[in-house]
Amino acid sequence: MIFRLFKYLTALLLCSLLSSSAFALKVGVSMPSTHLARWSYDGRYLKEYLEQANHKVDVRYANDSDIAHQINDIRNLIESGCEVLVVAPVDGVNLIAVLEEAKAKDIPVIAYDRLIMGTDAIKAYVTFDNYKIGQLQANYIEKKLALSFIGSNSANIEIFEGDISDRCVDYYYRGSMDVLKPYFDEKKLFCLSNQTKLDDVTIVNWSSDLAYERMKMLIKTNNYGPASTNTKLDAVLAANDSVANGVIKALLEAGYDKSRMPVITGQDCDLDSLFYIKTGLQSMSVFVDVRLLAKNTVRIVNSFAETETINDYDRLSYFNGVTNIPALVSEPEIVTKKKIKSVLFDSGYYSKEDNAKLKKRIKESRK
Ligand code: BGC
Repeated sequence: MIFRLFKYLTALLLCSLLSSSAFALKVGVSMPSTHLARWSYDGRYLKEYLEQANHKVDVRYANDSDIAHQINDIRNLIESGCEVLVVAPVDGVNLIAVLEEAKAKDIPVIAYDRLIMGTDAIKAYVTFDNYKIGQLQANYIEKKLALSFIGSNSANIEIFEGDISDRCVDYYYRGSMDVLKPYFDEKKLFCLSNQTKLDDVTIVNWSSDLAYERMKMLIKTNNYGPASTNTKLDAVLAANDSVANGVIKALLEAGYDKSRMPVITGQDCDLDSLFYIKTGLQSMSVFVDVRLLAKNTVRIVNSFAETETINDYDRLSYFNGVTNIPALVSEPEIVTKKKIKSVLFDSGYYSKEDNAKLKKRIKESRK
C-alpha cells in the first residue's frame, strides 16, 4: 500500500515537473472577442494551463472584435510588466505599432490561432492546420453530395467565409476551393449566385446576423427553397459555426426543415451548433480543440523561460510579410452527430452540465 502511494506521488511529481517551468513568467493574453463562444474557452484553458506551469496570467478580451480596444489591452499588458504576450488578433494587420512597443521592451509575442502580419515582434505561432479545416469541410460536402459519382446531374452550392482581415480565412478558402474547383470546372457543381471569389463570400466579423442577411438575399435572388417549384440548394459551405447559425436561421425562415436542409458545414463545435447537428439542421462542425493550442502555448512560454529550442517547429510555412514565424500546428477533426459524445463530452471538453443543458434543449425542441 505504502509502496503504491509512493509510486503515485512520484508519478504526480514527475507529471507536474514535466509541464511546469522553473522560471515563472508573467504572461499577458489578449483575446479578440467576447461575442464568439470559442474565445472564452481559449482564454479559460490558456489561463488554466499556464498557471499549472507556474506562470502568472492576465487575460484581456477585446469587446466584440474592436481593434482599438485590443490595442489598448495590449498596451496595458505591456505597461503592467508582462514578460510574454499571447495575442489572438482581432485583425491580422493593425497591431504592428503596438507590437513594436513590445519588441522595444524585449517582450516576445506569440501569435495565437490567427497569424499576425507585418512585424518581426512575433516570435512564434500556435495554430491549427487551417488549410486542412477548409479541406475537411469541402471533402465532407464532396462525399455527402457524391460529387465524384454525380454523372450528368449537378449540385448547387453557396459559400460563406469569415472576416477577410483574419488570416486563417485565406487558408480555409484555399483548402475548400482546392477541393471544389475541379467540380465547378467540370460543371458538376454550380454556384448560382456566381459568388465564389473570396472577396464576394467573406462575412464581416464572422457575424451570424450578416450571414443571415446574405443567405436571405441569396434565397430570394436564386429562388432557393424547399418546395418543388424552387431551385434546390444542395450545400452551404460555412466556414464556422457563427456563420452557419445565420445561414440556418434564414433557411428555416424560408421553410426548410431537417428533412430538406442542404448539407451545411461549420467549425468550432459551439454548443448552439451541437444542438443544430443533433437535431439535423447542421451536418457537421470541425472541432478545433483549443486545449491543444493552450498546451502548445505553454511549451513555447516554457521554452522562452528556459531559453530552450523547440525542435518540432514548422519554420517555413508561415511567412508574415517580414519573416517566417516558427509555428506549432495542431490537427483539426470532423465532428458529426455520431461523434459528439466521444469527442466533446467524454473528453471533458464540455462539462456534464453542458451535456444536460443540450439534452434539455433537444427535448424541449421536440415538444
Ligand atoms: C478561428 C475560428 C473561429 C473564427 C471566429 C478564426 O480565426 O480560427 O475557429 O470560428 O476565428 O471566431
